[in-house]
Amino acid sequence: MERLGLVSRPCLAYSSGAAEPPPERAEAGRTVGENMAEQPIPAQKEPYGINVEAGKRYFWCACGRSASQPFCDGSHKGTGLTPVPFTAEVTEEVWLCGCKQTTGKPFCDGTHNGL
Ligand code: FES
Repeated sequence: MERLGLVSRPCLAYSSGAAEPPPERAEAGRTVGENMAEQPIPAQKEPYGINVEAGKRYFWCACGRSASQPFCDGSHKGTGLTPVPFTAEVTEEVWLCGCKQTTGKPFCDGTHNGL
């Protein structure tokens, strides 16, 4: 079976030295025009509980199209949306928004309860 040109490499998180988000993933047979959906789509209607490490830099998926939720895999290409970088201040569990409607990006603010 053909792989459809998808780039498969882990890019869930970058070290604190990373200055750029992961590269945009190739579109797999999908046509994305400049006027197509520029709105985020819910990956799920609840947050992701994620253990983050102090000092580590992460890229939260803002478009909802990543296959590596809640992190960016480059699938935002052509949407006009970009991932939200953040660096964990302490090692702890955080609740990252899955519905992509939060006003406190990248963290859940309860907006999903009204969807
Ligand atoms: S999952 Fe988006 S606001 Fe809670």
